[in-house]
Amino acid sequence: MCGIVGVLGTHEVAPILVEALRRLEYRGYDSAGIATVNNGHLDRRRAVGKLVNLSDLLVHDPLAGKSGIGHTRWATHGAPTTDNAHPHKAGPVAVVHNGIIENFRDLRTELSAAGYSFVTETDTETVALLTQKHIDEGLSHVDAAFKTIDRLDGAFALVFLFDGQDDLMIAARKGSPLAIGHGDGEVYVGSDAIALAPLTNEITYLEEGDRAVLTRSSIEIRTAKGALANREMKTIQVESTQVDKGGYKHFMAKEIFEQPSVLSNALGHYLGEDDTVVLPGDNVDFSKVDRLTMVACGTAYYACFTAKYWFEKLARLPVEVDIASEFRYREPPIVKGTTALFVSQSGETADTLAALRYCKDKADRIVSVVNVPESSIARESDLALPIHAGVEVGVASTKAFTCQLNVLLMLALKAAQDRGTMTPDAIRDAIGQLRALPGILNAAMDRDRTLAAAALKLSESRDVLFLGRGLMYPLALEGALKLKEISYIHAEAYASGELKHGPIALIDKTVPVVVMAPKDSLFDKTVSNMQEVMARGGKVLLITDAAGAEIAGPDVWQTVIMPKVPEIISPLLYALPAQLLAYHTAAAKGTDVDQPRNLAKSVTVE
Ligand code: AGP
Repeated sequence: MCGIVGVLGTHEVAPILVEALRRLEYRGYDSAGIATVNNGHLDRRRAVGKLVNLSDLLVHDPLAGKSGIGHTRWATHGAPTTDNAHPHKAGPVAVVHNGIIENFRDLRTELSAAGYSFVTETDTETVALLTQKHIDEGLSHVDAAFKTIDRLDGAFALVFLFDGQDDLMIAARKGSPLAIGHGDGEVYVGSDAIALAPLTNEITYLEEGDRAVLTRSSIEIRTAKGALANREMKTIQVESTQVDKGGYKHFMAKEIFEQPSVLSNALGHYLGEDDTVVLPGDNVDFSKVDRLTMVACGTAYYACFTAKYWFEKLARLPVEVDIASEFRYREPPIVKGTTALFVSQSGETADTLAALRYCKDKADRIVSVVNVPESSIARESDLALPIHAGVEVGVASTKAFTCQLNVLLMLALKAAQDRGTMTPDAIRDAIGQLRALPGILNAAMDRDRTLAAAALKLSESRDVLFLGRGLMYPLALEGALKLKEISYIHAEAYASGELKHGPIALIDKTVPVVVMAPKDSLFDKTVSNMQEVMARGGKVLLITDAAGAEIAGPDVWQTVIMPKVPEIISPLLYALPAQLLAYHTAAAKGTDVDQPRNLAKSVTVE
């Protein structure tokens, strides 16, 4: 998951490339680099680490030119070093790449045998060298690049730039997204529309297998078979103001605290006048759905896991939930009457997209719940349901998670509506509770200080356990993921009832146990689990409501009291303490909250 950009401009292009890369840093930030053609001469600058290091380098060692390409890297092949940073160059060719070339070792062997030598460990250098070889063999720049593209196996988004060619870029897409931006006498390429937002909102998305020959005055797109392709140009609404911190120290903080307003807005897109659920686009009639298969990764998977409880309890609809990277290779039988549902914030997660494609010709219907309506997963679905979370920059997903839950709960209510398993009044009550949630969430923001104090103590731990039952079990899983991915503290989550089947062996005074448990129908069972922990010297951090706190008593190590909410919507509220606990723990530890080590926002590689 890297970010790539290209510009054939009418002004100096280096600062434009750097700004576009800044908007793509969420896709990876191990290193960054640009290349330009200036007076026919191809040159590049690269720097390890955050984009700011490249910016610093360009101050001292500027790069002129009105055509250029850029890249921000999440390392797949080869350590994050300057040598391995993109753009990669070989002779007259520079290339930036997002994805993985799976046959690059065979190609390296072929190139070595032909006398070409390598200076990096990357798969991308192979692309540049192979293109150089084709040019050496007498092919034109376009034919050389196309011949290279035809030789590549795996997933890639590529942009080529050539020495002596300041009005030519070649772009290609297979498995990783790529967008073309239309400017006034300029043309752009980017991993997504967000990167190009300051330049244009007129976007053409390349389809799977497409390659494009770009000049300032022409865009020629061809399919993998070489036929001319006519791809639609769309006007995309991505406000450039969305990518700022709004006065918060971190994007993650902003995105946590804006959840009440974001959820309130998102709700409005799905509710009819009479508080019935209205889906955008053509509808899903759940009375004709016998089984629901939900597939996702990471936080999105935990949103699906939460929704399983809702669909089964409210709509009596059998649901299976699976992690995309397992689902796609297990090749499960998809029985008749199955609707397949894919949840993805970015809409570009490679494993989830592959799982969708596996279901394409098997499931009755492909539905997706995404935050990027123009994404690959959205475009390959029969029905794409936007979550309206707005741009989420923090690598750790927060508002997207609650907005995913929001849409999934409304889908479950729609299913109950269609299958007649809930009365219209009961559905209206549930929707009324959802409508009240943003206000309750807003009121709960004042727990921030209590959670920050709890986080300070948690930040000294090496291992943390999270426990939850019922709807709180997926929330415990999400809480553990949030904590580990931004604070780097090892955290695991268990269904509370599982504790005594092994994990309780981990309990001692050094392992805090975060118990997520509002006073609901399962609370008494969870109290027993808490006693088992405390009886062994374990420290319980209980996240509950006032009634739960009273029952739990004063022996609990720390208690965070949340507002009381109906059980059915509790996951949307209890996501907040999980997020704030992780956020403040990471802040106390001084880790990089918005761009944690080794991670990227959009995992577009397997
Ligand atoms: C969330 O905090 C993580 N960064 C990660 O698990 C993420 O949810 C996962 O990679 C799925 O991403 P997607 O929703 O864009 O498909």
